Amino acid sequence: MVTAMTGSKADNVTWHIGEVDRDVRTAAHGHRGAVLWFTGLSGSGKSTIAHRVERMLIERRVFAYVLDGDNIRHGLNRDLGFSPEEREENIRRIGEVARLFADSGAVVLSAFISPYRRDRDRVRGLLGEGEFVEVFVDTPLEICEARDPKGLYKKARAGEISNFTGLDAPYEAPEAPEVHLETADRSVDEVAARVVGYLEAHDILGDS
Ligand SMILES: Nc1ncnc2c1ncn2[C@@H]1O[C@H](COP(=O)(O)OP(=O)(O)OP(=O)(O)O)[C@@H](O)[C@H]1O
Ligand SMILES: [Mg+2]
Repeated sequence: MVTAMTGSKADNVTWHIGEVDRDVRTAAHGHRGAVLWFTGLSGSGKSTIAHRVERMLIERRVFAYVLDGDNIRHGLNRDLGFSPEEREENIRRIGEVARLFADSGAVVLSAFISPYRRDRDRVRGLLGEGEFVEVFVDTPLEICEARDPKGLYKKARAGEISNFTGLDAPYEAPEAPEVHLETADRSVDEVAARVVGYLEAHDILGDS
């Protein structure tokens, strides 16, 4: 069966419905697909926590996969910079990729600053009920700047980087994230375990 596509520039593009649906994939994997959308300032801990959660899930044989900011900017989004429009397009494409992965049955962990609430909500709108889990990595700017794992704050303060989130570009904190992590006085294992606990409590991991 085919249905007409909307929102595409190309004419005569149709969507091909496959022979395997979501329920069959869920049964094959033993867990549901979902998107864990980590958001927070640079240095807040998105990548560190997402990769720890990925390892914990893989050890339980859950099909988990991290989509990480810099890596995507090296490839898929190498044509995009950091203006508001380019940040919006960056998140739009990642949202579409995350949706495809989740549809395939994966637990996707995306680790992008994603500073605009509207862009994150758009991605939420691409996914089904309960499939989008917003994880707010809530680390105060002073602590992110003190950590400065990539030396970016130092460069931004020296005027070598502009449009830097938290300094001269805005960060819109989530208003009602599914998971709210404060990392300042906690270990990576502690906060990663909270994320896994959320997935267990919301029946995303099934028997895995
Ligand atoms: N509880 C914690 N959770 C996460 N990271 C922590 C925690 N405590 C300390 N850290 C440290 O904070 C730093 C977080 O850096 P990380 O690269 O994960 O940030 P990020 O949010 O991915 O930043 P960016 O947006 O620039 O990619 C790491 O050096 C990590 O070891
Ligand atoms: Mg990162």
